[in-house]
Amino acid sequence: MTIMYRTASDHQLTATQHQAIRTLLDEAFADEFSDEDNDHAAGGVRVIAMDGAQIVGHAALIARTITIAGTPYRVGYVEGVAVVPARQGQGIGAQIMRQITDMAQRDFVVAMLSTGEHDFYAKFGWQRFVSESFVDNHGTISRTAAEDEGLMLITSLSHLNQPGVAWVCDWRTGDVW
Ligand SMILES: CC(C)(COP(=O)(O)OP(=O)(O)OC[C@H]1O[C@@H](n2cnc3c(N)ncnc32)[C@H](O)[C@@H]1OP(=O)(O)O)[C@@H](O)C(=O)NCCC(=O)NCCS
Repeated sequence: MTIMYRTASDHQLTATQHQAIRTLLDEAFADEFSDEDNDHAAGGVRVIAMDGAQIVGHAALIARTITIAGTPYRVGYVEGVAVVPARQGQGIGAQIMRQITDMAQRDFVVAMLSTGEHDFYAKFGWQRFVSESFVDNHGTISRTAAEDEGLMLITSLSHLNQPGVAWVCDWRTGDVW
């Protein structure tokens, strides 16, 4: 069956579809997808791949504020990129990434994500983060050096991604980046 790709805000999806997305993410990430990870994927726009009524792929694009070199930017943050295991390797993840990358570049001057699968995202133009990451926990700013390696971004403001430049995200429960 032909895969259909759809964008949807959370309120446009049924409770059953939200549960199906969570099940997909649990399966794709082998039960390492936490409740916090699930929360991080909420509140923006999602790209979902549908095989008939079944959701077989997903990614979310969320707006976050990241302060870069002292200036706050509205950043498009990609979360929850996954394809159901039985349908991996069939081009579904690529199509989802092309769509969500286009949306991120259209709507944000900076797009970011955190991953261990850099080579996958590099295919869609994502670049390694070479700056320094921090978190602002209600006014206390801490270095998050262990996160630098996983971060990738796309930005037209390439001068921001330079060694020594501070990128500070707001605190959230679970993985802050
Ligand atoms: C990563 C994932 C989303 C890819 O989706 P997919 O539908 O299997 O990918 P596609 O079939 O569209 O592959 C597109 C291309 O990416 C490559 N690719 C797929 N997974 C890759 C990975 N983990 N690392 C590097 N390249 C990868 C494919 O070989 C293919 O390359 P090609 O265009 O040169 O042939 C999917 O494997 C998945 O859900 N994995 C588990 C969850 C996960 O790791 N999510 C992302 C990390 S945060």
